[in-house]
Amino acid sequence: MPHYHRVGSIPHKRHTQFRKPDGGLYSEQLFSTEGFSSHYSLLYHIHPPTVIIRTEPPTDIAPKAATENILKHRSYQGFKVKPEADFIKSKKVVLFNNDVHIALAAPTKGLEGNVFYKNADSDEVIFIHEGTGVLKTQYGNLKFAYGDYLVIPRGTIYQIEFNDENNRLLIVDSFSPISFPKRYLSRYGQLLEHAPFCERDIRQPEDLQTIDEKGSYLINVKKKGLLYPIWYGTHPFDVVGWDGYEYPYALSIHDFEPITGRVHQPPPVHQTFDAHNFVICSFVPRMYDYHPRSVPAPYNHSNIDSDEVLYYVDGEFMSRKHVERGMITLHPAGIPHGPHPGAVEKSIGQTETKELAVMIDTFHPLQMTQEALDIEDENYVMSWAE
Ligand SMILES: [Fe+2]
Repeated sequence: MPHYHRVGSIPHKRHTQFRKPDGGLYSEQLFSTEGFSSHYSLLYHIHPPTVIIRTEPPTDIAPKAATENILKHRSYQGFKVKPEADFIKSKKVVLFNNDVHIALAAPTKGLEGNVFYKNADSDEVIFIHEGTGVLKTQYGNLKFAYGDYLVIPRGTIYQIEFNDENNRLLIVDSFSPISFPKRYLSRYGQLLEHAPFCERDIRQPEDLQTIDEKGSYLINVKKKGLLYPIWYGTHPFDVVGWDGYEYPYALSIHDFEPITGRVHQPPPVHQTFDAHNFVICSFVPRMYDYHPRSVPAPYNHSNIDSDEVLYYVDGEFMSRKHVERGMITLHPAGIPHGPHPGAVEKSIGQTETKELAVMIDTFHPLQMTQEALDIEDENYVMSWAE
């Protein structure tokens, strides 16, 4: 839910004649993800965005459940996912339900040249754990680096370029629009004073490069779990200008200002994004609770109505043992969890944490794929037994 932005050339009035230097009309396109009931942008193309020249049969890329045993604490070694050159194939969904897919990827190459991607199913939040590069879209470019969340509305045609082969991504596909928590927004959508970040932290697309080219351009479109190769006769990045509220943006986890207190603060203080039936939270370096008798370690809790997925990014994790970068823990709804033995006592007197993690809490149970089972640490479920 970013704010109004305007890039390039647009006509003074929407839906009026907007002509090219040769006298022809630019093609106006309204882009929205919730019909005409919410945010939208208006884009102006040199060519109509509709010129399909070839289609091929789709491929099934929908995640498949590999087990029915979902009532078990699990841990996955995310960095064991093998690097792969094909950006689209490198995305390995590990956990999923009808609201959200959680994937890991280690692409060694991006999407360049005449190949593009469009997720017509879901908004994407790409968390950059390792890697730097540029996300290229019809709206302009977004440079990214370690710690960035790239939020890409469904339907955005994009390419991605990495500066080298060492890239580690956590990708969240949301089947509802990604927004900010409502309690942080004014009636008209401004981020309020008590929000942990504000508009200045949101990076908008820049360096709009208009490519006026005809040829053969492959847009891989994901829809209902199938990937459709659709070839267009004009370059999709032929936009001369656009304005509106709907566009990809970046927000760095390092710009998330933690909310702390005298006693342990509940997980919602870490919430960064909101979606239908799940949330995304950022655990960032922060001062610990400062009541003289405070217990910095979290209390045990019976998360009876949400599955908790924690993706460990960097730093020390006070409440867990054997944590590695890129590790995921899944604490499913239905069985309580809490700090590992000794962690509570050890936390007392500590003043700060350097932990950095992304949490995804889902309100419906998650299932796991074979890719998840392949990188599972089988002993995790017993790790609370002394
Ligand atoms: Fe928890």
